[in-house]
Amino acid sequence: MTEQSPALQNLLTENRTFPPDADFSAQANAKADMYDKADSDREAFWAEQAERLHWDTKWTQVVDWSNAPFAKWFVGGKLNVAYNCVDRHVEAGFGDQVAIHWVGEPGDTRDITYAELKDEVCRAANALLSLGVRPHDRVAIQLQMIPEAIFAMLACARIGAMHSVVFGGFSPTALRSRVDDAEAKIVITSDGQYRRGKAAPMKANVDEALEGAESVEKVIVVRRTGDDVPWKEDRDLWWHELTGAQSTEHKPEAFDSEHPLYILYTSGTTGKPKGILHTSGGYLTQVAYTHQNVFDHKPGEDVYWCTADIGWVTGHSYIVYGPLANRATQVVYEGTPNTPHEGRHWEIIQQHKVSIYYTAPTLIRTFMKWGDEIPAKYDLSSLRVLGSVGEPINPEAWVWYREHIGGGRTPVVDTWWQTETGGIMISPLPGVTATKPGSAQRPLPGISAKVVDDSGNEVPHGGGGYLVLDKPWPSMLRGVWGDDERFKETYWSRFSSQGYYFAGDGAKYDNDGDIWLLGRVDDVMNVSGHRISTTEVESALVSHPTVAEAAVVGASDPTTGQGIVAFVILRGSAADGGEQAVQELRNHVAKEIGPIAKPRQIMMVPELPKTRSGKIMRRLLRDVAENRQVGDVTTLADSSVMELISAGLKSGK
Ligand code: WT7
Repeated sequence: MTEQSPALQNLLTENRTFPPDADFSAQANAKADMYDKADSDREAFWAEQAERLHWDTKWTQVVDWSNAPFAKWFVGGKLNVAYNCVDRHVEAGFGDQVAIHWVGEPGDTRDITYAELKDEVCRAANALLSLGVRPHDRVAIQLQMIPEAIFAMLACARIGAMHSVVFGGFSPTALRSRVDDAEAKIVITSDGQYRRGKAAPMKANVDEALEGAESVEKVIVVRRTGDDVPWKEDRDLWWHELTGAQSTEHKPEAFDSEHPLYILYTSGTTGKPKGILHTSGGYLTQVAYTHQNVFDHKPGEDVYWCTADIGWVTGHSYIVYGPLANRATQVVYEGTPNTPHEGRHWEIIQQHKVSIYYTAPTLIRTFMKWGDEIPAKYDLSSLRVLGSVGEPINPEAWVWYREHIGGGRTPVVDTWWQTETGGIMISPLPGVTATKPGSAQRPLPGISAKVVDDSGNEVPHGGGGYLVLDKPWPSMLRGVWGDDERFKETYWSRFSSQGYYFAGDGAKYDNDGDIWLLGRVDDVMNVSGHRISTTEVESALVSHPTVAEAAVVGASDPTTGQGIVAFVILRGSAADGGEQAVQELRNHVAKEIGPIAKPRQIMMVPELPKTRSGKIMRRLLRDVAENRQVGDVTTLADSSVMELISAGLKSGK
């Protein structure tokens, strides 16, 4: 196991608990007996959960794990995911219920009812069909948080095409590699996006990305900022013209339960992002089940707000698929939390009477930094459940969240999951669990997880090790796009004799058997809840002409969880590496990957610490980055390297 940062050590001494409130429990969706029910017959439990969906053809088998690790859930079942998220609510008489209270960054708003959502999704589906998009085709979507992003995703799902959403902040290079890997036929983007009060171009970046991209036939452009954009007559189409000309009628086709729904790229331990593949019936079942129980969601009563971006899995599962399958009314906000002022989120909660709020620890710590007096100015009494996701939440932030946002009343659910798991896996259940600040606590009913040692044996209470998932789950990834070997190697080889899924996270049990997540144990960093691989940033750095070698580590950071720290050896001919060189390299990484991957700090060093087999010892670099005494150096090929590095840094070289 990697050593623990001070913030993580802090987690281990936390012992406050918050038992559920009796009134809350009495009305809660989740019941304590769900754990036993699920344990006694897992398949029956999941079969019952799947009943919350509309199936055109009922499945004949709950799960087929005979070809592990390739799972099949609800075998033989047929359904349409978009029909389940939209049409069936309209047919049940809820067409006038608001699905989306959209809030634009500049202050414009749009309320979209389920009936309107159905019309928009049908138009977009017909538009894609008119361009020749067919089941299994890939559609790349790079859009900010505007309603069209959701329409586009659901339109793909409706016609059985797969979407591949690429975060709006990713660079042209990053977009291109994803478009090429998925061989996307269509790209959907916008003219530009509002960011901190200013309009930034989007289409121009997409054009740069798609220069010579062979698979792409058409680019559909949503008009948002109204700024002039470059235009390719034979390739580009305006969203409003294209969809405006289409009928609002479209008959949804039922697809196989295992029909692919989407690909979402995420960082692994190598430089090349993995296209995580999710399918239909099992995925929708688990995201709907978890959204209803973990957030205690009541359709028609609650106003739900998940602050994630649809470029990440949280946006897929807990803005689009889970909430819409459950007929939620939700807020979707386009902008940053401090535009035009630092109370923007609280203002939106007050205005829309948001009752369920789901965000990330990095943002909670930022709110803490901005000051208690900011949320105190707003009426937040509508809130009744608060959620956290993306990285371990430190107890201080957890308690602040409950006190200052939740008025000391609301349950806080710390939800552990990953792009690969598709849906929430480990979390308290509000109304059932006595919560502990900093712990995600127990696998949800129907889910099984363990903390194991190096040999795959479960550790005793009080012990630490690796988090594994020892039984298949409905929303599990079905593979890595185009790379079955990588799928097996990355997730299933570490504990192959037991057949466990290796999550890549360190974890420990406390004396009650509750699980505490301790951060990644591989070369993946978590910066503000964004997953970035050290190798990816290293490749970006060495692609710069002045860089000979680079090593990157995630160093603990009080706000962002981890910050990216790079150690760089310049080429002999390059200048000494002053402040200007550092800025140049930071910008180069932003250009190669995206601004989220910009190193917090770059240190120019004469050498890097390596083992005799040539592997960089990041552990030692992390000691330097976190200002700690450097640990054991005996396995270094050249044990004087660390002295050289430390001496060079002290002298400012
Ligand atoms: C990694 C997955 C799940 C959606 C957002 C991130 C870390 C996530 C928690 C949590 C501790 C967490 C893990 C995980 N993580 N949630 N509640 N407590 N760690 O999805 O980009 O696929 O990243 O995020 O390290 O492996 P992702």
